[in-house]
Amino acid sequence: MAKRNLIDITDLTTGEIDELIATAEDIIDSPAKYAHVCDGKQLATLFFEPSTRTRLSFESAMLGLGGQTLGFSAANSSSTAKGETVVDTVHTVSCYADIIAMRHPKEGAPFAAAQRSEVPIINAGDGGHNHPTQTLTDLLTIHREKGKLCDFTIGFCGDLKFGRTVHSLTSALSRETGIHFVFISPEELKLPDYLKENVLNKNGIPFEETASLEAVMPKLDVLYMTRVQKERFFNEADYIRLKDTYVLTPEKLVPAKKDLTILHPLPRVNEISVAVDDDPRAAYFRQVRNGKFIRMALIMKLLDLKA
Ligand code: NCD
Repeated sequence: MAKRNLIDITDLTTGEIDELIATAEDIIDSPAKYAHVCDGKQLATLFFEPSTRTRLSFESAMLGLGGQTLGFSAANSSSTAKGETVVDTVHTVSCYADIIAMRHPKEGAPFAAAQRSEVPIINAGDGGHNHPTQTLTDLLTIHREKGKLCDFTIGFCGDLKFGRTVHSLTSALSRETGIHFVFISPEELKLPDYLKENVLNKNGIPFEETASLEAVMPKLDVLYMTRVQKERFFNEADYIRLKDTYVLTPEKLVPAKKDLTILHPLPRVNEISVAVDDDPRAAYFRQVRNGKFIRMALIMKLLDLKA
């Protein structure tokens, strides 16, 4: 099989994504069936940027498949600190591991690394650009909460400019039918023009932009909250001014639909009050759990392994 990478969510067809979701759901139902699929295989996690869920869910996924893991979780503990290029680091690790998940602050770094890697590369987040495995997690969660990936209204709220999870999920959902997009952000943090032009307008997909979460809350089926991405701001004063623009509270949810699904890729800072956690519509910790299972399905796919 030719080497497959996952750099952008559109590297997978919608049919392949449906298959990954079906596999993840089977893993959830029958984990024992998958416990030895990756015996003798190694996953490397190369994280040049901080992470809790993404790195640990990859590691937990590989362990759940019977494989092993190696890697680093900070750029300063690798030869990057000596001046090695990311392409050389990944080329090196691809001599040891069977598959690599990497996160990097520079947009395009996983794509560049994939050109020299001997083994599949998974983009675990590149700067403010893309985060395709979070999108797979989000899609599995929507599928489990709503029973479908079509015909609903989704509101993305918060930092839509730097939020890479928003970019990848918008791109993925633009290939499904009957999705109505509502982008809720302050003026400074609106969805980048390249996504509006190349993904939404180009495909004739309707969307609206607003600064008011209250105004659109009653019509949403899915609400995707995001953190203001402090590390991507050039100036601290702007971050401080914008960070608490939206704080979801039980009061703000009063006019929302009874079957709303509330998602957040996490980590949350202040944008969802902990009082919302007990609301049955809060799906963000179920979303965390789903991240492991969809990554198990993805590792199997890229290594061409079956249960
Ligand atoms: C997201 C990320 O890293 O982009 N986190 C994650 O992977 N679950 C979202 C964020 O950091 O705000």
